[in-house]
Amino acid sequence: MTTTANAAICRGHDHPFTIEPVELADLAADEILVRVVACGICHTDLAVRDAQLPVPLPVVLGHEGAGIVEAVGSGVTGTKPGDRVVMSFNSCGTCPSCDVDAPTYCYNFFPHNWSGTRADGTPTMRYKGEPMAANFFGQSTFASHAIAHDRNTFVLPSRFDGIPLDMIAPIGCGLMTGAGAVLNAMQVRAGLPIAVFGSGTVGMAAIMAAKIVGANPIIAVDVNDERLALAKELGATHAFNARDDAVGKIKELVPQGLGYAFDTTGINKVIEDAWNLLAPKGICGIVGASDPADNLTFNEAAFMGGGRTVMGILGGNSDGAPFLLELLDHHLAGRFPFDKLIGHFDFSEINEAIEASEAGHVVKPVLRISAE
Ligand SMILES: NC(=O)c1ccc[n+]([C@@H]2O[C@H](COP(=O)([O-])OP(=O)(O)OC[C@H]3O[C@@H](n4cnc5c(N)ncnc54)[C@H](O)[C@@H]3O)[C@@H](O)[C@H]2O)c1
Ligand SMILES: [Zn+2]
Ligand SMILES: [Zn+2]
Repeated sequence: MTTTANAAICRGHDHPFTIEPVELADLAADEILVRVVACGICHTDLAVRDAQLPVPLPVVLGHEGAGIVEAVGSGVTGTKPGDRVVMSFNSCGTCPSCDVDAPTYCYNFFPHNWSGTRADGTPTMRYKGEPMAANFFGQSTFASHAIAHDRNTFVLPSRFDGIPLDMIAPIGCGLMTGAGAVLNAMQVRAGLPIAVFGSGTVGMAAIMAAKIVGANPIIAVDVNDERLALAKELGATHAFNARDDAVGKIKELVPQGLGYAFDTTGINKVIEDAWNLLAPKGICGIVGASDPADNLTFNEAAFMGGGRTVMGILGGNSDGAPFLLELLDHHLAGRFPFDKLIGHFDFSEINEAIEASEAGHVVKPVLRISAE
């Protein structure tokens, strides 16, 4: 049975998103039809809009969705209609990375997340009768309804009933990316200094996680003073404006160098500065979407001699449900107060929400798409 949905269509940088009717395909065996309650807007949605990532346009984006299950495919056993779910990125389940619970590095990440179709090339969505690129991160949740998959749809246990879905939604990308970079990928050690470059959702999540593990000092760097003030509320011990010699101030504060430098800006110069601040055995984690043609330059002797690491990190090395539920447990315990980052918008205000994010007024815009 065909499902009609309202979806926000992205046609590129020079066009506003427009909410229009689309048709969703019949569910394949592993698929789950979700009525979307809320979806966060992530910088990666905008990177696709700006053609920085190889996702076909026009497309229906949205990859931080949460909602209520309406129907499940014939092969889905652990999820049923009525379940409260949160969605994340998709993966194949059979490649060498998926085999060792490292699905963010799935060998088949592109066809499952960014090809605009299912991995087998069939469309999940039609617009005016023609195939429309969707299945973004296996969900495309800037829409009233979405087709997601058994592997990227997680049922929320009842202990989280008190957290509204329009709060939980962004846990599946930006928040897990920053927190996971600290907790899973770099495995930040208590007592070592960390600097986080960029205090957006990803950077703020990293700062909260650095506080959880007891890193010290925790240094936030941004160009936006309001964000720096919030970073201090969330756990940063120091906050420096990048326009005001942040590099010099970090050198003064930690003359022995940083144990960890985490870049979320995707700006080459910032990453190279961050790298140059590392102590021996230091790790420079990078996650920002940058120009596909960018290359970084590191000094070979410092790289080898100090045993330093440059670490590309995708999705915070999340293993799916276990990590997301761990973060929500930190939230319940008051250690991961990500609600302080969220500003809500009605679905019809998607363009205003993007503007608020790009102007730096709202750290994590979340669209309210239907009532829970
Ligand atoms: N690797 C992954 O798995 C993954 C997942 C999610 C997001 N991302 C990417 O991570 C990046 C961060 O995402 P976000 O949602 O936090 O974005 P964001 O735009 O909210 O945050 C970026 C921050 O960097 C700050 N900034 C800009 N120039 C700076 C400078 N020179 N020095 C210091 N700070 C500066 C901005 O003011 C902003 O606060 C994006 O590029 C996004 O596409 C990657
Ligand atoms: Zn994202
Ligand atoms: Zn895989």
